[in-house]
Amino acid sequence: KEKATGKSYAKIIWFGEHSVVYGKPAIAIPIYSVDVTATIRRINAGQNIHCRYFDGPVDQMAENLRGIKTLIDHLTNLLGAKDVAFDLTIESKLPSERGMGSSAATAIAVIRAFFAFFEVSLTRDMLLKLAEIEEKITHGNPSGLDSATASSSMPIWFIKNEINEQIDFNLPTSSLVIADSGIKGKTSEAVSLVHSNLVDQPEMADPLIQQLGTIAETARQALAEADDETLGKLMTQSQQNLAQLGVSNHTLDTFCQVACQNHALGAKLTGSGLGGCVIALAKNQADAQQISTALRKAGATQTWIQSFKNYQFST
Ligand code: PMV
Repeated sequence: KEKATGKSYAKIIWFGEHSVVYGKPAIAIPIYSVDVTATIRRINAGQNIHCRYFDGPVDQMAENLRGIKTLIDHLTNLLGAKDVAFDLTIESKLPSERGMGSSAATAIAVIRAFFAFFEVSLTRDMLLKLAEIEEKITHGNPSGLDSATASSSMPIWFIKNEINEQIDFNLPTSSLVIADSGIKGKTSEAVSLVHSNLVDQPEMADPLIQQLGTIAETARQALAEADDETLGKLMTQSQQNLAQLGVSNHTLDTFCQVACQNHALGAKLTGSGLGGCVIALAKNQADAQQISTALRKAGATQTWIQSFKNYQFST
């Protein structure tokens, strides 16, 4: 082919961050309006990449892009394309280090673009295994949740080392509002903090983790039954547990309060916490707009609205 593209999406953890580390289930969803597109074009000579952080030959990519470079080298080997000249352009709407799975989404888009360009079919299993090459370099010991969500067209039910299942749901009128605090998420710091709390104060922390697991189970049921009121309550309850575990902060707490004062059915931090984003569930589009505006006034650097009307489309 002369040109091919691959797409992927931002991931948002709806329920189960932190408790997922301890074997509890998590629910994550792809956010279609926040996407990555990778485009490959055939050129006369060279192998070049154009992205937010680098513009030039693939073999001169910087050390902080080693994950994606290693992936590209692997793909050109695998597809017998060592000598094929190409330009690879990556356009990403995802902010990095906000718990939205930026690196995994980039990897998924690039893999899809390569396979489309060389007209080779790609299974979901293969896609996730290839994305792991990049994620292991960028994140050390990834759970796989980011790639599973970035490549999905539906929410994911995820249990570490066990289950990665796409789940169907139907919430025809509500929307999720996502607000970026502008502060980098601090995954390893937040994960260590929860771990220390479990070691030092198990009587406090253990029940909170157990409850977060139960909340995810109940939320799955509420999703299936389109029960947005219950989902909202479960989100607020999750936020309380996460705050008690120490991973919220003043900005995230304030955003949750502001969302709820503006008709959100519930709100919580998403991802590691100590920064990153907050999500709020809105009953309808008008409420979502109001929540989004209020969160920007309260200091959110960016907001996005994911409507669930006709949510499922194929990736
Ligand atoms: O903010 P993120 O995307 O790094 O999410 C972290 C989620 C945790 O549950 C806190 C850690 C993990 O590895 O699952």
